[in-house]
Amino acid sequence: MTNQLDKKSQAWSALFSEPMSELVKRYTSSVFFDKRLWQADIAGSLAHAEMLGHQGIISAQDLADIQRGMAQIHSEIDSGAFEWKLDLEDVHLNIEARLTQLVGIAGKRLHTGRSRNDQVATDVRLWLRGEIDLIIELLQALQKAMVDAAADHTETILPGFTHLQVAQPVSFAHHLLAYVEMFARDAERMADVRRRTNRLPLGSAALAGTGYPLDRERVARTLGMVDADGVAQVCHNSLDAVSDRDFAMEFAAAASICMVHVSRLSEELILWMSQNFGFIQLADRFTTGSSIMPQKKNPDVPELARGKTGRVVGHLMGLITLMKGQPLAYNKDNQEDKEPLFDTVDTLKDTLRIFAEMMGGITVNASAMQAAARRGYATATDLADYLVKKGLPFRDAHEVVAHAVKTAQGLGLDLADVPLETLQTFNPAVQADVFECLSLQGSLAARNMLGGTAPQRVLAEIARHRARLA
Ligand code: ARG
Repeated sequence: MTNQLDKKSQAWSALFSEPMSELVKRYTSSVFFDKRLWQADIAGSLAHAEMLGHQGIISAQDLADIQRGMAQIHSEIDSGAFEWKLDLEDVHLNIEARLTQLVGIAGKRLHTGRSRNDQVATDVRLWLRGEIDLIIELLQALQKAMVDAAADHTETILPGFTHLQVAQPVSFAHHLLAYVEMFARDAERMADVRRRTNRLPLGSAALAGTGYPLDRERVARTLGMVDADGVAQVCHNSLDAVSDRDFAMEFAAAASICMVHVSRLSEELILWMSQNFGFIQLADRFTTGSSIMPQKKNPDVPELARGKTGRVVGHLMGLITLMKGQPLAYNKDNQEDKEPLFDTVDTLKDTLRIFAEMMGGITVNASAMQAAARRGYATATDLADYLVKKGLPFRDAHEVVAHAVKTAQGLGLDLADVPLETLQTFNPAVQADVFECLSLQGSLAARNMLGGTAPQRVLAEIARHRARLA
C-alpha cells in the first residue's frame, strides 16, 4: 500500500491534477529550518497518541507501535541518520511519513483529531519554553558574574554622568549593580512570558476543535503544561489557539529589551575602553587587533552585541508585522514566525553567555576613574547640600556653588583644592569641615539611603543579590 504522504512530491491528494513546481516546493517548505523542532514534535505526538489510546480512540497495539516507531525516529534524528525530505514540506510531515514507513497503519492513525495547525502551535510553544528556561539560567549567571565584580569595587569611584557630562561620583560597584537590576527584570519578564507560552493548543485541530472525545487536560499534564499548582493549562478557544503567536511576539519583546540592556552596557564598555577614558580593559580573548594598526585592541564583542541588538529588535518588528493583517484562524503566514524566533534565541543566548564570561574578566583602572571624577566638579552638589545644612535654601546654595565652580574653573583647580578663604567669599557659612564633603569618598558616604551609592548600602545590595541568586 502506498503512503499518501510519500506521494506528496506528485500531488497532495486525488484532488490535485498536477504536482507542485520545484520553485513553489522550495518556497513553501520549511523543513530545513523547522526540523529544529523535532524533539518537541515527537513529544507532542507521543502525548497525543497516549491520550488517544487512553480514550479508546486508537488501540493499545496502535499506541505501542507509535511509541516504538517514535523511539526509533528519535535515535535516527539524534544520530544524524534521519533523511529529511524537502518534498515532505516540514518537520511534522517528515516525521509522520517516517513513522508510517516504520510501523504502518498505526502511523496513519496518529493524526486522528489533530491538524498541523494545532501541532505546530504546540511544538513552537514547547520548544520556546525550554529555551526560555535556558535563557533564565544564563541571565542568572550573568548577574552573578556582575555581582562578583561589583564586590571588588564598592570603594572604586568613577564619575557618574548625566548627558554624558560629569555629574556626581558613584562607585563602580553601584554602576555594575544598575545592570544587575536590569538583568533581574529581564529574567522576571522571561518567566512571565513562559507562563503564557506554556499553554496547550493541541486538540483545537484545524481551527474549530474536533468531534473525537479528546482529553486535552491529560495531554497538557503529560507535556508539563501546568501552572504552579499543577493545574493543566489549555488554550480555551480553538481559533485563537491555532492562529495567534502573541507568545512569540512577547518573547521577542522581552528578548529585545534584554538586548537593549546589553547594548547600553556595551556602549559603556566601549567608551570606558577608549584611550580618552582609560577606565577598563577587557581580557584579550574578547578583543581583536587591527590588520593595519599594530597598537590597536578593539572591543569587537561589545560592538557586535550593540549591533546584534538591532537584529533582535528587527525580529520583533518582523513578528509583529507578520501577525497584523491575518484574519482568524491559521494562515500560512505563520510559518514565517520560526526563523526570526530561532535567530532571536540563538543571538540572545550567545550574547548572554559571552557577557557573563567577559564581565567576570575586566581589569579596572581605579586611578583613571578617580581622576576623571575629580576633573568634572562632581562634588558640586555636595557643597550645595553642605550649605543647606548650614541653613541656606537649596536654590540659593545652588547659585552660590555655581559661582564657586566658575571661580575654581578660572583657577584651574578642583573644588577640594580651592583655599578656604576663597570659598568663604561666596558664603561666610563655609567652614573648614567643608573639605570632608568635597572629597569623592565623602560624597559617596553621604548617599547612605536605600538605592544610594554609599559603600555600606552597596554592600547590603550585594548581599541581597547574592541571597536572591543563590
Ligand atoms: N509548516 C507549517 C507552519 O509552520 C505547519 C502548519 C501547516 N498547516 C497548514 N495548514 N498548511 O506553520
